[in-house]
Amino acid sequence: MNHFDYTNGTLHAEEVDLALLAERVGTPFYCYSTATLERHYRVFANAFPQGSLIAFSVKANGNLAVLKTLGKLGAGADVVSGGELKKALAAGVAAEKIVFSGVGKTTDELKLGLKAGIYQFNVESEPELIALNDAAAALGKRAPVTIRVNPDVDAQTHAKISTGHAETKFGIPWSRAREAYALAARLSSIDIVGVDVHIGSQIVTLDPFEAAFRRVVELVRVLRADGRPISRLDLGGGLGVPYRTDNAPPPDPAAYGAMATRLTKDLGVRLILEPGRLIAANAGVLVSRVIYVKQGEAKTFAILDAGMNDLVRPALYDAFHDIVSVAEPGPGAPRERYDVVGPICETSDIFAAERDLPRLKAGDLVAILTAGAYGAVMASAYNARPPAAEVLVKGAEWAVVRPRMDDDALVSIDRIPFWL
Ligand code: LLP
Repeated sequence: MNHFDYTNGTLHAEEVDLALLAERVGTPFYCYSTATLERHYRVFANAFPQGSLIAFSVKANGNLAVLKTLGKLGAGADVVSGGELKKALAAGVAAEKIVFSGVGKTTDELKLGLKAGIYQFNVESEPELIALNDAAAALGKRAPVTIRVNPDVDAQTHAKISTGHAETKFGIPWSRAREAYALAARLSSIDIVGVDVHIGSQIVTLDPFEAAFRRVVELVRVLRADGRPISRLDLGGGLGVPYRTDNAPPPDPAAYGAMATRLTKDLGVRLILEPGRLIAANAGVLVSRVIYVKQGEAKTFAILDAGMNDLVRPALYDAFHDIVSVAEPGPGAPRERYDVVGPICETSDIFAAERDLPRLKAGDLVAILTAGAYGAVMASAYNARPPAAEVLVKGAEWAVVRPRMDDDALVSIDRIPFWL
C-alpha cells in the first residue's frame, strides 16, 4: 500500500502533483511519501511485541529527512559504517537505538560507536571481536555484543543479495558459534548481550526465515547452557516487497511478525529487527523525463534523463521496476512496446525491456516505482552525471531533501597535482 495515485489526471505523491514538482525541481528526482513511510513503519512495528526495537536499515535509504521521519515514530537505526552512524545520530536517532552491523568495521568506526554509546555491535568475525575489545579497552568502555551467526539456509532470493548460506563473507559459520561466544566471554571489555542473524534481502516466503529463526532459537538455548547471558535476539531484515502491481504480494509483515514472535516467545528475549526495503521501497518513486523516443530496427527506445547512475538495480540485479506515465492514460489510450533506457554509455543502462506502456513522446514524464529503497543510496556520478535530487512529500507540503549537485560542483571536486 502506498500513497502514489492519479488525481485530476496526474500522478500525485499524497496531495502533491508530480508533474508540478518536476517543473519546480527539475528531473530526474526521487520523491518519497511521508504517509507511506509512516504506514509501513507502523504496520511492521505493530507486528512485534511491545518493546521490540525496529532499527531501520539505513543502507536502504539514508536521507536524513527519511531517517528523521522514522526516528520520530520511534524507529532505531541499523548502520554499517561510520558515515551511516553519523547520519543516524544527525537525524536525531538516539544512540541507544542504534545497532552497528557489517563485516569490515574499522577500529576508527568501532571507536565512533563506542564513544557514541550505541546499543550493540553485531560482530561478524573473531578478528573483529578482538579489535572491538581492544578499542573498548583503549577508551575505558565496554562493548555490548551480539555475534552474527550464519544459519546456513538458502534465502531463495537473488544470488547477489543472499547472505545466509554456508560460505559467505557474512557472519560466523554455524559450526564455530559456540567457540566464538567462548572467545567473547574471555575478552574483558566485551559484554555478550545477544545473537544476531540476517539471511538476505527481498525474501518473499516465510520458510527461509522460519528455518533460520528455529536454528537461532536452538542456539540461544545452547549458549545459555554454556553460561552466556543472551537477552536480545536480532533477527535482521530481509522481508520482501511487491515490485510488480500484477503479482501476488509477499508475506505481510503481520504473518512474519507472528511467526517470529511465536518461535521466540519462550526465550524471554528482546527482539530487534532491521527492516530496510519493507519500509522504504514502496514509499519512493523516481520521476524522469523522456528525452527522445528513438526507433531502432525492431525496437522502440524511450530514452530517459535518469540513468543507471541514479537507479542501478535493474542493471545490477536484473531487477524489475514498474514504470508508469505521470499523465494518467485515458481509457483505451494507445500503448506501445518500449525498451526504457537511460542516457549512460552502457548496454546495461536499461530500466525495462520490451515493456508495454502508454504511448510516450519526448518531454513526457514517467515514474519508476518501488524506488525508495536501494535507489538514491546506490547512485553514482558515472558519466559525470550528478545523481537525482530527492524530495519528501507530506500531505500537500513538499521539500527538496537533497538538492541535485550541479555539474560545476562535480567538476570542482577533483584536484590537479602540482606537476600538472
Ligand atoms: N540487516 C543487514 C545486516 C543487512 O545486510 C541488510 C541488507 C538489512 C538488514 C536490510 O535488509 P532489507 O530489509 O532491506 O532487505 N542493494 C540490494 C539489497 C542489499 C541488501 C543488503 N543488506 C537491492 O537493491 O536489492
